[in-house]
Amino acid sequence: MPVSHPPRHHSNRGPSASRGGFILCPCHPGAEAALAGRQAEVLPAFLRAAWRRGLATFRIGPETFDPPDDFWPDLVFAHTVVRSLGQVTGPTVSDLAAKAADTVAGCTWDAVHVWRRDERVDAPVADIRLAVSAACGVAVGTDQVTRSGDLVLDCVLDSPDRWWIGWHRAGAPASRWPGGVYPRGVPEAAVSRAWLKLDEAIASFGVTLEPGQRALELGAAPGGACQRLLEAGLHVVGVDAAAVDASVLADARFEQWRMRAREVPLRRFRGFDWLLADMNIDPTSTMAALGRLLEAGTCLPRGVIATLKLPEWSRGSELPGWLDAFRAWGYEPRARQLSTGGRELCVVALSAARRRPSPVRRATRSPGA
Ligand SMILES: C[S@@+](CC[C@H](N)C(=O)[O-])C[C@H]1O[C@@H](n2cnc3c(N)ncnc32)[C@H](O)[C@@H]1O
Repeated sequence: MPVSHPPRHHSNRGPSASRGGFILCPCHPGAEAALAGRQAEVLPAFLRAAWRRGLATFRIGPETFDPPDDFWPDLVFAHTVVRSLGQVTGPTVSDLAAKAADTVAGCTWDAVHVWRRDERVDAPVADIRLAVSAACGVAVGTDQVTRSGDLVLDCVLDSPDRWWIGWHRAGAPASRWPGGVYPRGVPEAAVSRAWLKLDEAIASFGVTLEPGQRALELGAAPGGACQRLLEAGLHVVGVDAAAVDASVLADARFEQWRMRAREVPLRRFRGFDWLLADMNIDPTSTMAALGRLLEAGTCLPRGVIATLKLPEWSRGSELPGWLDAFRAWGYEPRARQLSTGGRELCVVALSAARRRPSPVRRATRSPGA
């Protein structure tokens, strides 16, 4: 991959003020083809370049258009987007850090993001961050999460002796996290990893949950996502034939409807502000379950947060049809393959029609619960 040289002065627009070159898109290992499919659909002027497990790169012609500096939500499978300045190779961290500093000489950075394209790459991320920051004269903060507006030097570890150097301007939440990977872990008390996925969805899409709102989740057991909703002060109904953890059941603001999604009586689907779905079934079945509730007209929640499990990554090509269905239900959908998620897509869809906060209401107990 040819090296594009940054200008010798600090530029408010970022080092690649001359546009064009390559972009680096980190993604879930295995999602590279799905990402390329998405790129062909939404950014057809880009050309596919080098691919590695967990990283796809594309050539952007200077003649095409002037892309934004941080993140292309339409790429969906890209955790974030970085402009490439080229590669450096060398035998040691200090040698590589010196070459990285040479590549960006004359530029002033607010932060350095160091990340591995794949967790199998055996490289000391924390040490490399210190070495690159020192070589490039960047103060090292306590964590790698940057502020919106920061100019970020990216150091992508391709292998222990080869790094890609790039940059981006932090803006969208995911562009503030190194490699677009959500920096939090699963709390000890969480009963499932779904707690973290929902936490990332909330952060990544800027979802505002208000205490006193009501949520219903299809596919709720064992209850991690419901825990996250309860922590936000919501009243929660979890729909699942499987058992919900006792710690979640013990919360007075939680109730379980122990049934399948298709068994939820439509007359009981009333007064919910949020509808969530996280069922381990085919995505068309999840869409049908959502459609059954949303088309009934008994309740139009202000937002839907849905996990669409992909039996194969190639099923991601059906996303445009799913997004159209959300639009037909009266929602504005956005989709993202969450960095903490598996082979699945997260769709967050907000209704423009319902923006008023709801009064505090108490979830009613189900006779069958
Ligand atoms: C990935 S787990 C959900 C994790 C859960 N959201 C959490 O926060 O812990 C998938 C769940 O979907 C449930 N499920 C599968 N098909 C379903 C259906 N038709 N209706 C309701 N739940 C279903 C399964 O019983 C299983 O508990």
